[in-house]
Amino acid sequence: MAFVITIAQQKGGAGKTTIAASLAAVFAARSRVAVLDIDPQHSLARWHTLRAARKGAAPVGFSDVSGWRLAREIDRLRGLNDVLIVDSPPQLDTDARLAIRAADLVLVPLQPSPPDFWAAEGTMKLAAAEKRPARILLNRAPAGGKLRLAVEAAIAEAGYPVFAGTLGNRVGFATAFAQGLGITETAPRSTAGREFGSIVAELERLMR
Ligand SMILES: Nc1ncnc2c1ncn2[C@@H]1O[C@H](COP(=O)(O)OP(=O)(O)O)[C@@H](O)[C@H]1O
Ligand SMILES: [Mg+2]
Repeated sequence: MAFVITIAQQKGGAGKTTIAASLAAVFAARSRVAVLDIDPQHSLARWHTLRAARKGAAPVGFSDVSGWRLAREIDRLRGLNDVLIVDSPPQLDTDARLAIRAADLVLVPLQPSPPDFWAAEGTMKLAAAEKRPARILLNRAPAGGKLRLAVEAAIAEAGYPVFAGTLGNRVGFATAFAQGLGITETAPRSTAGREFGSIVAELERLMR
């Protein structure tokens, strides 16, 4: 039975698809992993097509079934894989709700700015209503500064779980994505690669 990670955040551009791709690449190296793209923009589908065409890239299963067949599709993929990563659209529509309901962990990428935090609150509340564990991941976070501190304070005040590790603004993510790869495949020893590695280590502790 797969551990289901749903990446959700109603703000577009938060890093959902980027993180989904790099996570899938990590798990592909050691287990059966599939990605389920329920965002009508289908960017993860494009990534997967690029990956499937690459000789030697560890295989990642793919589906983009959504709508009334979604819940069943998640059950099917759960039975076939060790890890299932669901990339969701930038709104809390019915599909996103179903994907959150099915999640063993909801991962909520958040760029440290007030509008992104407000958007993340909607996702965190929905996860709580569905009784699913959710955790914020600070993405494109500056090393410090007022904005980051303010958002971290707001997260702490709300009592939301948050990854200790953060991801900076690193062009390497887009470079990897454009090749159908993940950051730990293209640049494991870069700052981005190391940051992503510590997020994965935290994630694996949550998956045990
Ligand atoms: N940590 C990061 N550093 C630099 N660019 C990033 C980072 N995370 C995401 N991006 C870029 O931000 C844009 C939006 O990311 P994307 O994953 O498509 O967001 P979402 O799926 O939430 O809409 C993309 O161009 C992506 O390459
Ligand atoms: Mg996306």
